[in-house]
Amino acid sequence: MFFAAYLDSTDNFKNGESTLVVAFRIVAGRSNSGVIACYPTLPRMLTRFFAVTLLSFWSQATLADSEKIVEIAESECGVCHGEKGVSEKPLIPSIGGFSESAILDLLTTYENDFRKARRVTLDDGTETDMIEVIEAFSQSELEAFALYYSQQTWMPIEQAYDREVAAEGAKLHKVKCNKCHINGGSVPESDHALMAGQWRDYLKGEFKNFDDGSRRMSSKMQQKYETLNAEGKQAIIEFYVSAGDF
Ligand code: HEC
Ligand code: HEC
Repeated sequence: MFFAAYLDSTDNFKNGESTLVVAFRIVAGRSNSGVIACYPTLPRMLTRFFAVTLLSFWSQATLADSEKIVEIAESECGVCHGEKGVSEKPLIPSIGGFSESAILDLLTTYENDFRKARRVTLDDGTETDMIEVIEAFSQSELEAFALYYSQQTWMPIEQAYDREVAAEGAKLHKVKCNKCHINGGSVPESDHALMAGQWRDYLKGEFKNFDDGSRRMSSKMQQKYETLNAEGKQAIIEFYVSAGDF
């Protein structure tokens, strides 16, 4: 919560008094704002002083906060997901450019146990996973990370692929998957994980987990997914890897 102060426009200069309005803004909640205090009888100079001090405190706090969030995201998430959420590791998904709500939804799939987290060994030899990472942060920090990553640009990862197989996958995707994973899984506003240009090894792992039941899917996706044979799944993965360029 940040406090902002400003001189009310009804500032009464004639009698040397002015109004100090202290407004509050809950930044995370976005929609709530309002006036919490009003001191109409304070001398003008004093009011000015308060207004300026509080305003500068507020803007510094906002700046420091967002800089800090970027710093924490880049070190705590970036160690695995890469700079600006562009992963350099084939088993770790890129997340930069996903929508804010897609990221938050995906994080809840770990908390709800709909999905197992894979253990990852970091360069310094420590082992951790998504569940441990999520537990280390508050909900508002996770929301701030989601916002940060949603402001990044999705960068499809360049990988070799088979054009013919990708074209087969595109046909299947269009009929069975495109309703939810719009435009080949390339549209952040669909509020799902982006898949166009995601790492092949990571996608293969997710398909495998859907197959063996260790990752749950919505019943509507399941209805479509279960109509695919192994070849069809491979083709769809190839299509995602191609990022639609085949
Ligand atoms: C130790 C490495 C590691 C760290 C640190 C890490 N992640 Fe992950 N993350 C993964 C791996 C691996 C996966 C995918 C496989 C899995 O489910 O474990 C993943 C998956 C995700 C997904 C789902 C992506 C998708 O396409 O389904 C999101 C969202 C995510 N991470 C966000 C974050 C955020 C935000 C942070 C920082 C708070 C973070 N991660 C820190 C390794 C990590
Ligand atoms: C009715 C909507 C719907 C349809 C149709 C659908 N999906 Fe999904 N898909 C989802 C949702 C929702 C998620 C997120 C699941 C979760 O929260 O774990 C998802 C997640 C995924 C993921 C995981 C991505 C990641 O990085 O986390 C893959 C892969 C996937 N879908 C593939 C497919 C394929 C292939 C088809 C077509 C056969 C398909 N989906 C059809 C809704 C759908």
